[in-house]
Amino acid sequence: MKAAIYTRYGSPEVIQIIDVEIPSPKPNEILVKIKASSVTRADTMMRQGIPKFGRLFLGLFKPKNTALGTGFSGVVESVGEQITTFKIGDEVFGEKLFSNGCNADYLCISEDMVIELKPDTISHSQAAPICDGFLTSYNFLKDIANIQQGQHILINGASGSLGSAAVQLSKLVGAKVTVVCSAKNIDFVLALGADDVLDYTKVNLNELPYKYDVIYDAVGKLSYKDSKKIISSDGIFMTPVLSIQILWQMLWNSKQVKFTATGMKKTKDLKRLFNELVHFFKQSKLHTSIDRTYGLSDISKAHQYLETGRKVGNVVIVNL
Ligand SMILES: NC(=O)c1ccc[n+]([C@@H]2O[C@H](COP(=O)([O-])OP(=O)(O)OC[C@H]3O[C@@H](n4cnc5c(N)ncnc54)[C@H](OP(=O)(O)O)[C@@H]3O)[C@@H](O)[C@H]2O)c1
Repeated sequence: MKAAIYTRYGSPEVIQIIDVEIPSPKPNEILVKIKASSVTRADTMMRQGIPKFGRLFLGLFKPKNTALGTGFSGVVESVGEQITTFKIGDEVFGEKLFSNGCNADYLCISEDMVIELKPDTISHSQAAPICDGFLTSYNFLKDIANIQQGQHILINGASGSLGSAAVQLSKLVGAKVTVVCSAKNIDFVLALGADDVLDYTKVNLNELPYKYDVIYDAVGKLSYKDSKKIISSDGIFMTPVLSIQILWQMLWNSKQVKFTATGMKKTKDLKRLFNELVHFFKQSKLHTSIDRTYGLSDISKAHQYLETGRKVGNVVIVNL
């Protein structure tokens, strides 16, 4: 089978497509024939080995895990002898977290991981990136902010994968949603359900005459220090983007400033959130936006596109 790997940190050109044996599932694993997989900003950062302190976990001089790709959707090809949840032919999707290996033709995954039956309401391409934007943003909105009906949220970077998911999830609970994007993406974010749109090239957010209950800086471009005056006294500022600055600010104001990484959460809690998301997708209450699709052999081009910082929604690898 074909699989995308990287054996050193660097530009998208470090990615190679190699031939490897199709893996055999262990007793508690299933073998999935992958139909679609995600390419995410987290993947591009792991490939580059940034931020550099992340190399303490990823591998100091070269990546310890050379496989690429965290989100997948596909069909169960075979099952280990202890498997009770899935059977051959089931359409499944989920996330391999830091173990990667989804940008390939097949993967083995334990049934205890973040994996569910794919709803018929969505395609494999729509399912594969759900654990990036939706699962990450749902964790922030539900488990961290506990956002409620009537609260006012400001979402910065609403045109990205996490932002576009956050707009829909916030509207689902009945929050008032103001989003920030550039002029070319205004129609896109309005179609997701945003109530108000601010163009970040024209508006200075820190001078707005409003106070928000929640600021979700999905692309890590704002500063908590500068945003303080537009956060209500019991409001919070959250971002999924790790920086020394955000860790420092969390140290001094852990109640109002929040960063977390999906991969830091216990699998059982991720499964709970994922299960709820699947329920919403079954009811067609959420929608995955796909910007571009690529074949596995063109995965370097997908990484190049992500690095422009201009993607709208999600980028997906489709296996033929
Ligand atoms: N903590 C976690 O567990 C976790 C999990 C997944 C991802 N992440 C992180 O989350 C971040 C967001 O990823 P993503 O895939 O949603 O989006 P992304 O690809 O990083 O961002 C793309 C979007 O951001 C918009 N944008 C660029 N500059 C902006 C600015 N100054 N203000 C507002 N919008 C701006 C772009 O629109 P324009 O072209 O209009 O500018 C584009 O549509 C990444 O840094 C990723 O590493 C964290």
